[in-house]
Amino acid sequence: MAPSAFSVSSPCTPLPMIALAMITSGMEDVEMGEITNSRILIVGGSSGMGLALAKRCLAAGAQVTIAGRNEETLARVGEELRSPAAFQTVAVDIAKESQVSDLFKRIGDLDHIVSTAADIEGAYELLPSLDLRAAQRVVESKFYGPLLLAKYGAPALSASGSMTFTSGIAAYRPSARGSVVAAVNAALEGLVRALAVELAPIRVNAVSPGWVDTPIWAFVAGDKKDDTLKAIAERLPVGRVGQPDDIADAIGFLMGNGFTTGTVLHVEGGHRLI
Ligand SMILES: NC(=O)c1ccc[n+]([C@@H]2O[C@H](COP(=O)([O-])OP(=O)(O)OC[C@H]3O[C@@H](n4cnc5c(N)ncnc54)[C@H](OP(=O)(O)O)[C@@H]3O)[C@@H](O)[C@H]2O)c1
Repeated sequence: MAPSAFSVSSPCTPLPMIALAMITSGMEDVEMGEITNSRILIVGGSSGMGLALAKRCLAAGAQVTIAGRNEETLARVGEELRSPAAFQTVAVDIAKESQVSDLFKRIGDLDHIVSTAADIEGAYELLPSLDLRAAQRVVESKFYGPLLLAKYGAPALSASGSMTFTSGIAAYRPSARGSVVAAVNAALEGLVRALAVELAPIRVNAVSPGWVDTPIWAFVAGDKKDDTLKAIAERLPVGRVGQPDDIADAIGFLMGNGFTTGTVLHVEGGHRLI
């Protein structure tokens, strides 16, 4: 693999896990059970929900590795989050088996693996406009990526560890143009249930977000993003769309709750009710 496709910016020293922490760090008070001093890999941690989770985990005293493909983005986010003893960035494409394999050779033991990664560029289209390669990138980033993270990451996890992957409301309330994303989310949820059995006692769960205000909307709605999110906010029982912190909070629960596995946690403001 070319060096540019994979780089670790700083070393990460494992620390023991301790229990519940209440954190306040310029955000709302957040309970992050069982993650203080945990070693956490967040694929997709350079944007949106993954970035919100990384901020929370760092504020709670965890050791955090964020991963994504774009090294410039990782460097920028690394500057923003700088916390040298507890933080590193890794450039990796989880669609590439060799890169995932190398990732786990290099980052050492972990307590939790999270993926919020999704490459949906060009895939949110009506069928006549749908490019098969764009559809395949959704499958690679949201299904094969988690599968590879499980294959190579499970041996790195402690017995009390967890994996959390990210499906989405499209599996339950698909819209026209969303066929590929809907199908991949549903497939991922099936994968999560099977992995929870195969990898036990490691816990494997999914969070299923509703509509959340993140950069991914550039690929879904382009310059209609604000109007689109406003329209759904007016219809949702909670009267607003999600924020990345809403999903980070739910992932924190899934990481910390030792009796939850094979579960899909819906965090969607009541979207499945309308
Ligand atoms: N936002 C919503 O309304 C919504 C609704 C339902 C479900 N979801 C799901 O929630 C998850 C998080 O979404 P988000 O809105 O936070 O997305 P986002 O802001 O676009 O972030 C996606 C992240 O994934 C990384 N990524 C993409 N492909 C990758 C790959 N092959 N390997 C490694 N990293 C990769 C991106 O970095 P690079 O591009 O640098 O690789 C980026 O850090 C996704 O699974 C999405 O489908 C979102």
